[in-house]
Amino acid sequence: MTPAPRTDARTTRLPGSLPVAALGLGSFLPDEVVTNDDLAEKLDTTDEWIRTRTGIHQRHRLAPDDATSDLATRAARAALDDAGMVPGDIAEVLVATTTPDYLVSGVAPIVADNLGIRVPALDVNAACSGFVYGLRQAAGLLATGSGPVLLIGAEAFTRAVDPQDRNVAILFGDGAGAIVLGTDDAGELGPFDLGADGSDPTSLYTPVGGTREPATVDNIDERRNFMTMRGREIYRFAVAHMSASSLAVLASAGLGPDDVDMFVGHQANIRILNAVADKVGIPAERCHTTVHLHGNTSAASIPLALAHARDNDRLAPGDRLLLTAFGAGLTWGSCLLTWGTA
Ligand code: ACO
Repeated sequence: MTPAPRTDARTTRLPGSLPVAALGLGSFLPDEVVTNDDLAEKLDTTDEWIRTRTGIHQRHRLAPDDATSDLATRAARAALDDAGMVPGDIAEVLVATTTPDYLVSGVAPIVADNLGIRVPALDVNAACSGFVYGLRQAAGLLATGSGPVLLIGAEAFTRAVDPQDRNVAILFGDGAGAIVLGTDDAGELGPFDLGADGSDPTSLYTPVGGTREPATVDNIDERRNFMTMRGREIYRFAVAHMSASSLAVLASAGLGPDDVDMFVGHQANIRILNAVADKVGIPAERCHTTVHLHGNTSAASIPLALAHARDNDRLAPGDRLLLTAFGAGLTWGSCLLTWGTA
């Protein structure tokens, strides 16, 4: 059942926002579900350790023949169907991803081709902050007169982590979420707070395979072509930056936590999400979490959570959402999005 629209329609636009509405929303999760017990059969870990440290119960893993663009294309088709649109209605395709099909050549052009359209198509690589960064890019495009923008967050991180490394293999899952954004008074996007600190990318990175250290037989033997991180450092960074950034967005909008109907943070770890919500002043019943079901799906986590909220009648037209994320780079970003469907 679709929830009834809110009756207290907001007529004044927030500072730093644009009249942008979500015209359609869609998601795709691969069929294969990997539980913590499944991982514990091959790794020195337990269901209890993973649940208590991360809140993750299970994650999805993409099929052997699939790549990120396949997940992205399915989510995109679902979003277009939801919008009642055809691919030819889309003016630009943005794909937020850190796990592209190929090191050289983007995912977005492949998705556009899969949809049968020849439009500008660009990847946004801000790791787990990619969807919020992508919303900012989409807002800029729409502000300069673009037609509808298809923004997809898509990741296949199970291919980018070492399946033998318990520090990271337990955290990640695969999936994609897509949103069609258009200029429309039914919704509102912004203000934003985005940031980056590239002073030490090695706290969360893939050492080998780029131009800094090209892949060789030796460094692949050492398994340095997989992502690695300093978990505790990232944890502290995530809590500090997601909460400060969320508060900065509320301050520039002239709002407080009570003005937020739903808080959707990047789904990396339930302890991080709870700590951020606590610092921002948002009670648990107004937070939407899916980390237990999806694990960390990086740039896909926020649109997957939005689709999950909508499918479970937790997202209604007129709801004001606070989105926040952090990721490799290191990057962070937050914004307000008033949910509106034309
Ligand atoms: N099972 C059992 N033990 C484990 C596992 C595991 N899967 N992984 C690590 N351990 C061990 C460690 O080796 C360590 O052992 P030691 O004390 O003997 O050295 C012990 O558990 C405790 O490790 P801690 O680092 O204290 O565990 P912590 O409570 O910090 O939780 C975690 C670790 C979950 C990684 C946490 O630090 C975290 O979530 N950090 C944020 C990471 C994150 O979100 N990264 C994604 C960024 S997304 C992107 O941009 C790609």
